[in-house]
Order: sequence, then structure tokens, then C-alpha cells
Amino acid sequence: MAAKDAPVPGPGIMEIAPYVPGEAKIEGAERPIRLAANESALGPSPKAIAAYRALAGELHRYPEGGSALLREALGHAHGLDPARIVCGAGSDELIALLLRAYAGVDTEVLYSRHGFLMYPIGAQAVGATPIAVPEKALTADVDAILDHVTDRTRLVFIANPNNPTGTYLSEREMARLQAGLPSHVLLVIDAAYAEFVNRNDYEAGARLVDRAENVVMLRTFSKIYALAALRLGWAYCPSAIADVLNRVRGPFNVSAVAQAVGVVALEDTEALRRAQEHNNHWLPWLNERLAALDLDPSPSVGNFVLPRFPDDPRHNADAAFEFLQSRNIIARKMGGYQLPDRIRITIGTAEENRKVAAVLAEFMAS
Ligand SMILES: Cc1ncc(COP(=O)(O)O)c(C=O)c1O
Repeated sequence: MAAKDAPVPGPGIMEIAPYVPGEAKIEGAERPIRLAANESALGPSPKAIAAYRALAGELHRYPEGGSALLREALGHAHGLDPARIVCGAGSDELIALLLRAYAGVDTEVLYSRHGFLMYPIGAQAVGATPIAVPEKALTADVDAILDHVTDRTRLVFIANPNNPTGTYLSEREMARLQAGLPSHVLLVIDAAYAEFVNRNDYEAGARLVDRAENVVMLRTFSKIYALAALRLGWAYCPSAIADVLNRVRGPFNVSAVAQAVGVVALEDTEALRRAQEHNNHWLPWLNERLAALDLDPSPSVGNFVLPRFPDDPRHNADAAFEFLQSRNIIARKMGGYQLPDRIRITIGTAEENRKVAAVLAEFMAS
């Protein structure tokens, strides 16, 4: 058939550079050390794994469409109104649904320059124009974001803390951003790494959602709860926005398994505490080693580090990535994030972190 008769996708879709996930394999390596996707170092709660297994006999049943028990459990755990929580198949789905509902052709979506790539990809998928706003010291810049608002702006996405830089905005700075936005512009605070943050001036976003009609907080079970394979995230919203998301989401968008396992994972506060303590120990440990190698790590508060490599071809970020691979370690290249001189490495187990530090020391000395 002639190309002119072929189906044509919507505006913007063919301009999307598809998201490239972290690599999971190294040619010839049986069990590579996978530190490319900010997955959990410790794995899920054993109780969550047991709950997953227990559901094997129920796979012929549709899920409860509104994730009611999970929303109740989230409301209880976080002190939030379950009616204003909407669950999704990962926070990725909620990002896409917010864009579908609030953006489109002839609109603009703001995100900070080194922000999570699903924001510009999702914006392009609905025909909107993503606008990358410059950062200061690898951190979202509230004044620059406010300066970039136009009458076409519909959403502002801030990952807090941000992936891949690991930097964050304080509660006060986020409130200043919200206060400066026109009330019809939706501020989406994506707090995928909130549970890892160990700072007094940080708040994940729920308090701002409670004070404003134009703020949504996104959370995920993929990171500290270690349930990335299940695809489970949630949004805490003003009622009107929860109502909109419930209209556009699929009727069974969250699997029965994800809902049930999510409830059990939330109850296992001991597993959560262990994962937090692990990160509180190993994040500064690894950052200190990187700093000692002059690798200028960003001040990350997430479960990952972002060292910067010198401009010399033998020691640049690409060479470091290859060297780590040659030692069975998969990190993440950062060219897609406009940070070609850095690589991102997830905090792993104690043994993996020691190995990363030793291999990078060997690399820099080579
Ligand atoms: C900032 C940020 N938001 C959202 C996501 C997606 O999370 P989920 O697995 O819940 O879709 C990620 C995953 O890496 C992320 O880094």
C-alpha cells in the first residue's frame, strides 16, 4: 500500500526519542550487578513476596477496579484522605494520564532540564510541547520555572528528589513555586524517591496538595518498596483532579496482585525502616569515595549517585561505563539527560557498593 494511505499517528508522536531503560544484561555475564534502574538493593518485604504467591489461585478474577483496600491502607499509613488517592500501573501511568487530561496540542509542559525523561516523552505523546527549564547547580530553579510560564503552560513536573541528579527542593521552595504559578497550571510533584530522603526541610508534597487546588503528588512502590515488576504507583490529589483521573484511567488499571501486595508491603514498616537505614549508610559512604576520587558527585538524596568524569578519553564517563561493565557492573549512561560527563549508579547491597568503589578507584588509577 502506498505510504500516503498508511495510518498516521497524532501530532508530536514521531518526534519522540523513545525512553531507553537501564540495561539488564552484559554479554556473557551470568549474574551482572544491576545498578542501572534505581531498583531496591534489599528486595521486597518477605511478607509481600508471600502475598504475591498466595494470589496464584485467583488469577482468573478481575481486580477490584477502584483499588479501594489499597487506597484505605495508603490513607491510613500516610494520614491522607483515601477518596483523593488514585492508584496507577506505576507512576508512569499517572504521569501519562495527567498529561492526557490536562495537556494537548498548542499547550506547553514545563520540566527542569535534567528532569525525569518521561515528562517530555509523555508531553509529546499528547501533542504538547515540552519545555526544558535551565537548572542551577543540577537543581530545579524555581525562578527560572516561573519565568518560563506562558499562557500555553498547563503542567509543571518536578521530580523531588529528581532522577537522575538526586537533588531536591525544600518544602519552602516548592511552596514558593506553587504560589508563583497561575492557578490553572497544575504542579505535579513526583516524589518517587521520597522515602529515601533524610533531610529536615523536605516534604513529599501532601501538605501542599492539602493547601492548593493545583498540586498533585505522585508516589511509587517501585523504589523503596522494591515492587517495580508489579507496576504500582499512586497520586494524591485535590478532589476535582482525582475525579478527572478516575474518568480517564482504565477500569482495571491496577492488577489485583499489585493491589494486594501493595497493602502487605505498606504494613511491613520494619522492611521500610531497613531499606531506609541501608540507604542512609551507603549513600554517604559511596559519595565520600567518589569525592575522594575527584568525581564530583551531585549531592544526591535518593538511592543513587551521579559522579562526573574528566574530559580525558581514557577516564571519561563512557570509559567508566565500559570499565564497570568489564567488571560485571551495569550503570546508567546519562547522555539522554544532557549529562554526558556523568553516569548514574544505584546504591546496591553492601558487597556491590564496595565493589563499585573499588572498581572506580582502579579505573581512575589506570
Ligand atoms: C522520578 C521518577 N518518577 C517516576 C518513575 C517511574 O516509576 P514507576 O515504576 O512507578 O512507573 C521513576 C522511575 O525511575 C522516576 O525516577
